[in-house]
Amino acid sequence: MDIRLEQTPAKDFRAPVLVVFGWEEGGGTFAHPWLDDVRASGEFTGKAAESILLHRPAGTAAERLAFVGAGKREKLTPGQLRRAAAVAVRQVRSKAVTQVAFALDAQTATAELVSEVAEGVLLGDYEPDILKTDPAKSEKRVQSATLLVPEVTEALGAAVERGRVLAESQNLARDLVNEPGNRLNPTVLAAHARAVATEAGLDCEVLDRDRMRQLGMGALLGVAQGSDEPPTFIILRYHPESAASADHLGLVGKGVTFDTGGVSIKVAEGMEKMKYDMAGGAAVIAAMRAIARVKPRVRVTGFVPAVENHISGRAQRPGDIVTALNGKTVEIINTDAEGRMILADALTYAARQGCTHLVDAATLTAAVVVALAHVYIGGFASDQALFDKLRDAAAAEGERIWQMPLDDDYKEYLRSAFADLPNVGGRHGGAITAAYFLKEFTEGRPWVHLDIAGTAWSDDAKAFTAKGPTGVPVRTFVRLAENW
Ligand code: BES
Ligand code: MN
Ligand code: ZN
Repeated sequence: MDIRLEQTPAKDFRAPVLVVFGWEEGGGTFAHPWLDDVRASGEFTGKAAESILLHRPAGTAAERLAFVGAGKREKLTPGQLRRAAAVAVRQVRSKAVTQVAFALDAQTATAELVSEVAEGVLLGDYEPDILKTDPAKSEKRVQSATLLVPEVTEALGAAVERGRVLAESQNLARDLVNEPGNRLNPTVLAAHARAVATEAGLDCEVLDRDRMRQLGMGALLGVAQGSDEPPTFIILRYHPESAASADHLGLVGKGVTFDTGGVSIKVAEGMEKMKYDMAGGAAVIAAMRAIARVKPRVRVTGFVPAVENHISGRAQRPGDIVTALNGKTVEIINTDAEGRMILADALTYAARQGCTHLVDAATLTAAVVVALAHVYIGGFASDQALFDKLRDAAAAEGERIWQMPLDDDYKEYLRSAFADLPNVGGRHGGAITAAYFLKEFTEGRPWVHLDIAGTAWSDDAKAFTAKGPTGVPVRTFVRLAENW
């Protein structure tokens, strides 16, 4: 999509649709008498997700005006305009309009907000329907967006570009998650990572099963053994030209390309959604792509252990005991608790690669969805300073992380009579005991675990987004590196 900045006054710009953001307090990013009329009628209050389309607006060159609710002007929070821009795009394209202009005023034509609008346009236009063959049944896409600002500056141009890089990367994560298990297995995911690395200028290494055996990744290999698809372990490296410190951030993402549950098989209902079980890995690959482009001054390496959790005559059994890379033995109580097994070895490996700080993202537990529904990412930390950095990065990007407890009292739930640890901690506090399990493999590094099981997939379409993959937490990862 073409996204441009123009300093033509909004009333003079010829476009099929001119989008005007309207505030709850009254007024909007462009003054027009019709805005006052629809407000007086009560049809438009400025609340998020509201939109109204008017034809042949008097005194403007545009063919239509779209008033889109942008929320409260006084307490403008990060994300408000991103969502409003996404609502606008989804609204106008349903009318078969492919070109859209946005009226921005002095308050909204800032670098931060221009990035948000550019992102909102690209994220709102995303649809996971690329495998539909009948174009008539696919959603229309917008072709160009023009942001009308009081003054075009270099800073605003850079803001549009940053927004484009972040949103396109986030959409890449969504595309990867959207790929079904038959089309995207660990080998294919690694091929995508290689292509991203070549295009973005990252170093890429992929460990194969033999290498994992040599290293002793018994936890990961135990999960992988049930599938005919071999596992891969993807590593993407970003080295800044001049790093601000010796810190080395490791981003680790769960890459289960399909989760049947294994011998502890899942119920059939809803199992198709388990293609999204590599959403953490997709987010890491996509964030590395963006990081290579925005070039933060911190060293970052991405790690994606990729496996298919399947059933076969070779699949691991409940009761099996495996030895993880760090030497700890784990008793498999439930083969469906596979994410923590592959992450255990990945976290140890990342620490041994010299990462000073670790952050992982994983669709790890159904329990986190019970706790936080689909709104907040569950965050668990061994280091408060690192957690605060992540929470701030997320907040700045309109993504939300809620801190969950990780006290040592939870260790008691992880007792095995036969091995150092069981791979599940019982019925209660499932998201927490899963996180506590991971902590045992972080080699004492400051670490934050993000459970994105509730937030990586949207079960319904919303005014601002399609049903399906959300691309969370790509922007948080990039902002974390930028803020480092
Ligand atoms: N990928 C799932 C987590 C999941 C389950 C996400 C359902 C969304 C919906 C993970 O591998 C898993 O199966 N977790 C189990 C762990 C349990 C066996 C301790 C879960 O949460 O049910
Ligand atoms: Mn599972
Ligand atoms: Zn899983």
